[in-house]
Amino acid sequence: MQKTIIPKLSKRIKMSTFCAVALFLNFSQASAQVEKEKNVKAFEFLSNSTEKDNRKALEFKKGAVVSAHPEATAVGVAILKKGGNAVDATVAVKFALAVVYPNAGNIGGGGFLIYRSEKGELNSMDFREKAPALAQKDMYLDINGNPISEKSKEGHLAAGVPGTVAGMVELHQKYGKLKWAELVEPALQLATNGFKITTQQANELNRLQSKFRQFNPLGTVFIKDEAWKEGDLLIQTELANTLKLVRDKGRAGFYEGEVANYIVEEMKRGGGLISKEDLKNYHAAWRKPITGNYKGYKVITMPPTSSGGIALIQLLQSVEPYALSKWGHNADSTVQVMVEAERRAYADRAKHLGDPDFWKVPQKELLEPAYNKGRMATLNWNKATPSTEIQAGEFAKKESEETTHFSVIDKEGNAISLTTTINTSYGNYVVVKGAGFLLNNEMDDFSVKPGTPNYFGLVGYEANAIAPNKRMLSSMTPTILEKNGKLSMVVGTPGGSTIITSVFQTIVNVIDFGMDMQQAVNAKKFHHQWLPDRVDIEPNALNPEAQQKLEAKGYTFYKRNSIGRVDAILVTKKGIYQTGADPRGDDTAGGW
Ligand code: GLY
Repeated sequence: MQKTIIPKLSKRIKMSTFCAVALFLNFSQASAQVEKEKNVKAFEFLSNSTEKDNRKALEFKKGAVVSAHPEATAVGVAILKKGGNAVDATVAVKFALAVVYPNAGNIGGGGFLIYRSEKGELNSMDFREKAPALAQKDMYLDINGNPISEKSKEGHLAAGVPGTVAGMVELHQKYGKLKWAELVEPALQLATNGFKITTQQANELNRLQSKFRQFNPLGTVFIKDEAWKEGDLLIQTELANTLKLVRDKGRAGFYEGEVANYIVEEMKRGGGLISKEDLKNYHAAWRKPITGNYKGYKVITMPPTSSGGIALIQLLQSVEPYALSKWGHNADSTVQVMVEAERRAYADRAKHLGDPDFWKVPQKELLEPAYNKGRMATLNWNKATPSTEIQAGEFAKKESEETTHFSVIDKEGNAISLTTTINTSYGNYVVVKGAGFLLNNEMDDFSVKPGTPNYFGLVGYEANAIAPNKRMLSSMTPTILEKNGKLSMVVGTPGGSTIITSVFQTIVNVIDFGMDMQQAVNAKKFHHQWLPDRVDIEPNALNPEAQQKLEAKGYTFYKRNSIGRVDAILVTKKGIYQTGADPRGDDTAGGW
């Protein structure tokens, strides 16, 4: 069922590529059948910018997918319609994004996911990249001990050992229903036949031409002599070959044999560290999700190696006693309380969070409601608290820009919230020659030197120092909410350090301000991360009077074009799946 009918299919989905996928999935036949049902639209995509700006929530009865690209959403919905469950759709969307959203979609990176079955079983998977075995604590410092900034961000040495393929294989083995090959095939078709790039993608590819040329002297499909433009067909033959091997051999198709050889040859050419042993030894980790409560909702979210889940629960606990809904959305008091909570949670993040396989994270202490409420006791209504006056909490020692997110719910109510990345847009700019996929620059998410900001301005210390085989700290916050024991929301976003605060605001927008899912996603955002001591805001996030009041108290504002790209699904009281696809990107909701 769909409440808001938007009459056009996306102009971006030109029929050639659409049909290539649809043919394989017998999609058009299924669509036509659903189309006949009264009040039910099989697919609706949002098209031009006017529609995007006024984007309204879509509602579906039997399943929904919200992802960063219309082609990937189409793949996911088609898998649900042919009887796949949320896990099957997740695997198919993940591989499709690796083709149609190469700036973040990736098989050369990693990510995190939260799973909730229709019966309420919870699980989470950490398929974050790892530092290669040859990595060293000071590998990005010069002889004077100063960071060489670009070394951890660009080129071969910036790459961690990829986790995506291992993660998807393990996810499918544990919970999947359809055959593995059926789930990889749509991505393989998209890579083989090509897809038409969007305006945003054309702009991004043009902006990065010199980087692609610098790091790929043997050439890559992303290099083009004339400017890229919307509608250009991007065919990725080498990536198609890799996907064929993954389709036919699963994990071994990536971590061994031909593809592993290509990766190691690429490393040798560019001075990277990833070895055959690193690839063979890589495994994703199932972890116990973090849970917390907020105003009658159970919040199920990602434990370390991401900082996202702990920080999100800290933020919710910190603001729960305050009258946000009475003050109103982005009112000065609301913003002040949320910013002061963010300042404190990010100070804790910097000191206490790192890979739990290497560092004793004081998780229990950080998640104590009394601790987080106590941290807010120093809030001064008359004055911004300078970040220099906020340090991480002390606990007694015991022995001891670019990412992408998608949300899926199937007709039984199984749900997945998955965030994945190669770190910044197009990762380290290295496309593995022969294998056709981009590598991550995730090593920059480590603290390369205590107190030195990473790409996102985040600082860290010993907890997140580089060590062989260690996972670098993340902010990814895939999250699922329950209300009265039932599935309520699936939510997450890209955005580096702003991931946590974007998920936080989206949840508060629904629970405290009564927004529907799309309104909550559309709403303008702000962000504070302890250091630098400033509030980042989107244009028009605050009305001028609210901003002036806060400036008078000492808050500094810094304008950013956009914060977050939240893709989320809300389960309404009637059990309908209501979507929120972020208009800031090419993000698209679909369902049936
Ligand atoms: N690479 C961004 C993050 O993991 O937070």
